[in-house]
Amino acid sequence: MIWDMALSVGNDLIDSQHKKLVELTNQVETIFNQSERDLRDYDEIIRIIIKLNFYVMNHFRDEELLLKEIGFPELEAHKEEHAKFVSFLDGITTDRLDLKEEEVLKNLLNFLSAWILEHIKGSDFKYKSYL
Ligand SMILES: [Fe+2]
Ligand SMILES: [Fe+2]
Repeated sequence: MIWDMALSVGNDLIDSQHKKLVELTNQVETIFNQSERDLRDYDEIIRIIIKLNFYVMNHFRDEELLLKEIGFPELEAHKEEHAKFVSFLDGITTDRLDLKEEEVLKNLLNFLSAWILEHIKGSDFKYKSYL
């Protein structure tokens, strides 16, 4: 996943936060794509996901504050999307990953990258013209 200007919403703070989310997801992907993984790699993946969770919460908070400031009319629907993603992240239990379930990890990764890209391009872009 690559962050480039095509993903810019036109706000430096938000763009830098989006970059960070892309970067953390890529870190998980890099570990996942290693030909061999041991338990330490899974610990690392969990560590990154916890970090991602933290950055996502910060980002959503900042973004929602900004949207409130600019009077974005679809704020409530947008908040709802954020909340759903947060509960998805919260639902990832570390036990499931410890079991080395390839399928779980693969689905997780696909979902993360797809959600981040689609949310930026689909939903965050809706507030672009209000900035
Ligand atoms: Fe958003
Ligand atoms: Fe965003």
